[in-house]
Amino acid sequence: MTQAPQATNAGSAACPGSAKALVFDYRQAANPIRHGLTEPMREHRWGAALHAHGPTAVLPLDLSAELGCEGPATSPALSANFIRILAGEAIEVSAKATSQLFYVWRGAGSCRRPADGLGNEFNQPWNAGDLFVLPAGGPARLEASAESVLYWVHDAPLLSFLGVTATQPRFEATHYPGPWLRQELETLAADPSSARSNRLSLLMANRDLPASRTVTHTLWAMLGLVPDGAVQPPHRHQSVALDLVIDCDPGCATLSGSELNGDGTIRNPVRMDWEPGAAFVTPPGLWHSHVNESGRSSMLLPIQDAGLHTYLRSLDIRFS
Ligand SMILES: [Fe+2]
Repeated sequence: MTQAPQATNAGSAACPGSAKALVFDYRQAANPIRHGLTEPMREHRWGAALHAHGPTAVLPLDLSAELGCEGPATSPALSANFIRILAGEAIEVSAKATSQLFYVWRGAGSCRRPADGLGNEFNQPWNAGDLFVLPAGGPARLEASAESVLYWVHDAPLLSFLGVTATQPRFEATHYPGPWLRQELETLAADPSSARSNRLSLLMANRDLPASRTVTHTLWAMLGLVPDGAVQPPHRHQSVALDLVIDCDPGCATLSGSELNGDGTIRNPVRMDWEPGAAFVTPPGLWHSHVNESGRSSMLLPIQDAGLHTYLRSLDIRFS
């Protein structure tokens, strides 16, 4: 004779004879993104003071306690960090990740990484403004010839959630020299079609990843110039943005919120004021817009998990 199911939670029932099996009334479980279950994401900001002084170290932008996941994690899928390296010193960095992105915010040095699973070594000098990406593989050694600060984003939190280890490099380690990126941005700014644009941006891509047009198969990176006087119309996407402010004067900010007003502006926006070297998080699905009232152009580097969302066909990017 079977026992009557036991209630363990409002709207749920346990299964007699199967310790883990449980069912929920659809209405109790259809949207578990709420406080106490799967925590919703909130905006967050870190000032440049975080990496202005101190010894050689990795400084994680860790929201794992808030997210209820293994840390360090800045979003459910990604971990953003600053790496401070004193002149003449080195640090070994390692992440159980499919993709690692490094942006040199200031300084100079080199990166050495032994051959990955495809037999590719990476020995690369870097300077301020350079960006480089590494696929799955072993630790990388960063040596600094001048005091340096790098922004480092990887997808270890995603792999940790899946309970997997990355074994197969999906792209070749790639270096994007800063002078080349700036030159391409200047070329874009000089194009007549850019004259009235309030967004001049380059999306980093890789010949190994023709379908997604992203910097790695999970990560997306944009070098964006926000001209003086720009008030961008809001847009939104399901990817999370981990933004680094590269350069600005006071008067630049990102506004975000869940709803639009009738005129297309964001209702009751949260304002993230920019500062060179600051980082901030834009949660998934929020309308957001960058504004510049500073008197000169500013530069932003958003990193997103939009490579992954593109593959899943869940990016859902929309413009107001
Ligand atoms: Fe965005």
